[in-house]
Amino acid sequence: GRVGVLMGGTSAEREISLRSGSAVLKALQNSGVDAVAVELNNDWSGQIAKAGIQSAFNVLHGTLGEDGCVQGMLEVMGIPYTGSGVMASALCMNKKLCKQILTHAGLKVPLDITIAADGPIRYPVFIKPVSEGSSIGLHHLTSKAEWQALAIHNSENWMAEMPVKGVEIAVAVLDGKALPPVEVVPKSGVYDFASKYTSGATEYFCPARLPAETLRYCMQRAEAAVAALHCSGAPRVDMIVDSGGEPLVLEINTLPGMTETSLLPKSAATAGISFEELCLSILATASL
Ligand code: DAL
Ligand code: MG
Repeated sequence: GRVGVLMGGTSAEREISLRSGSAVLKALQNSGVDAVAVELNNDWSGQIAKAGIQSAFNVLHGTLGEDGCVQGMLEVMGIPYTGSGVMASALCMNKKLCKQILTHAGLKVPLDITIAADGPIRYPVFIKPVSEGSSIGLHHLTSKAEWQALAIHNSENWMAEMPVKGVEIAVAVLDGKALPPVEVVPKSGVYDFASKYTSGATEYFCPARLPAETLRYCMQRAEAAVAALHCSGAPRVDMIVDSGGEPLVLEINTLPGMTETSLLPKSAATAGISFEELCLSILATASL
């Protein structure tokens, strides 16, 4: 049947999703799949119904597309879709709840710093929106003055974390099996939006420059993380490996980027899986 590549959407990550989506669409079409672009903007259920698709390859990022909302709609419409289901999507989009479940499952996470009425109770600190992607809204703060300059009003939508020194890696998990970890080395020192999407702004090493034993351990921890949250498809677990070789999980992305600079395609390539093969493997996981 016809496959709809769901892309765009209305979140802050719309442009990234369009880039991811066109790459996936092209790969599926090159592989002989009857795939069409379903660019979502206002009337999502109307647009999906009109596309006349039998399954959905979800390449949406952020609010509504990655947080369980469109997943619930597809369940109701009876259209099998790629990626995680409603519950896992909703939990992973909320970084605070996700960290609580990971901790409960025995995984290590960066320490949460309380945000008091007058700001985080210690510095330096990373603050970020609880539910956002692509590092939108990420700030590294060294003083109360910097917090005040941000003029944040509803601080319950924000979280603060203790910075962790170590090697930043991303471990994609394809159908339950971890791919080789990618190490990210942003030239600016912080892996933020610009570092993620400006070509040449970040150096990538795949596999990450860690001892083989540490790599294997991180892959096993990433598999445990996605199992704890009941993710499916090809989620990507972002981690920082501390000096003792212990990975601290920053978050799980249930619909990771599929652009030219994105990490999941890099990991797959290192494992000998072409972009086309990766897209076909993900498509094969589509379900209700
Ligand atoms: N949220 C972006 C797309 C990522 O995780 O790759
Ligand atoms: Mg994310």
